[in-house]
Amino acid sequence: MEPKLYQPPPEVRGMTSLDKEAFTQTIAVPALRVPTGVLNKVMKSLKKSTIQRPGLPRVVQDTEESSDFRLVLLDPHRVSSKSSFSEAEAEALRSFSVAEELQYYELQLTYNNLKSEEVLGAVLPQGQDVTSGFSRVGHIAHMNLRDHQLPYKNLIGQVIMDKTPGITCVVNKTNIIDSTYRNFKMEVLAGEENMVTKVKENGVTYEFDFSRVYWNPRLSTEHQRVVELIKRGDTVLDVFAGVGPFAIPAARSGANVLANDLNPESYRWLQHNCKLNKVESKVRTFNLDGRAFIQGPMKQELPALMKGKANVHVVMNLPALALEFLDAFRGLLHQEPPCDENLPTVYCYSFSKDKNHDADVVERSSRSLGFPLENRCSVHFVRNVAPNKDMMCVRFTLPKEVLFSCNDEQTEPSEEPAPKRQKCEETTDST
Ligand SMILES: C[S@@+](CC[C@H](N)C(=O)[O-])C[C@H]1O[C@@H](n2cnc3c(N)ncnc32)[C@H](O)[C@@H]1O
Repeated sequence: MEPKLYQPPPEVRGMTSLDKEAFTQTIAVPALRVPTGVLNKVMKSLKKSTIQRPGLPRVVQDTEESSDFRLVLLDPHRVSSKSSFSEAEAEALRSFSVAEELQYYELQLTYNNLKSEEVLGAVLPQGQDVTSGFSRVGHIAHMNLRDHQLPYKNLIGQVIMDKTPGITCVVNKTNIIDSTYRNFKMEVLAGEENMVTKVKENGVTYEFDFSRVYWNPRLSTEHQRVVELIKRGDTVLDVFAGVGPFAIPAARSGANVLANDLNPESYRWLQHNCKLNKVESKVRTFNLDGRAFIQGPMKQELPALMKGKANVHVVMNLPALALEFLDAFRGLLHQEPPCDENLPTVYCYSFSKDKNHDADVVERSSRSLGFPLENRCSVHFVRNVAPNKDMMCVRFTLPKEVLFSCNDEQTEPSEEPAPKRQKCEETTDST
């Protein structure tokens, strides 16, 4: 942390309930006595040396109460004597006939003048990590507190809310996503308990109840990357659509979309967001299990789509489990088309903890699909989720050998291990 001078009083250490008054202290800062007539010019010339703190004045009344002079307060970390001024600053002061003699002014520093890391650094146990990073989802700050921070959780929440414009609710998530619907368990630390929020991602507006659906602001680049591969007239089949961050921008760029999510709340907000973005005529929504969606609406649409010229994209973003759904494509269709030019492109997401992430996800995709994808797919690194755990996207053309394999293979269970109860630490990075 920068300046000792701005360090709050030592008594605040260990505080668990925020007492803003306890942060008030008086500090002495250097000041220059400047005639009011040249005040603006002096302020311009001393831009780099004046005090810069949220809520602190840079000019105060002269202590001698003379209306002809003001005191310009200087940054105590930059200016300690008249030799601290740069050549240009000293020259300017001389030209305005301002004496370079420093005075000291007693300034009251309060909670409002401190940054969140200064407050938290002074309160939390010394030597322990005070990282107060959070993800922002509309008006909600979403934290992932460590064990040693938990006794201070409400204070941390209050400080984050006080110090971040636009944040009116702070929540802490547990490290575990243990529901089928991928939403975090969370606790409100400070502020209003209103979880319905509005966000903008890549120019598209989404509204949803953050406590009941999946939303991750760190996926915006990935959403954009995939949407940029979709052309007007293409069809997108989004198996795990959430509240629409692939489906809606794809529809906005002129694609026809079938979007599915098993979570009734996601499905409701997906429909809401289609209306909000005026693409309801381009998106058909479904509230089915992914496998039922593949073997129902997708199976119905594919034969006609594959006869057409426009591309077909299948998006499967459920990284903890999506690979296990790939066997649903085995023997999905019966009549092989005369040529295989318009086979769907699949974008299937997966986490990997393996040393060789690429090989790992390709090997597991191949096993589930019952077809070797080595050298027939590309793997894209999406993001690091936790130490040694990455999120990857395997992209491949759905092989006709899989789509048209004989029917009994479709019902064979995949060699992937049976889906475990989902317990996956999704994020340890909390900014
Ligand atoms: C990781 S989220 C991705 C949401 C969205 N595509 C995105 O990129 O933000 C996975 C979504 O799959 C849904 N889901 C989970 N299990 C499912 C299943 N068996 N069938 C269909 N959807 C499922 C969850 O409700 C959640 O919205």
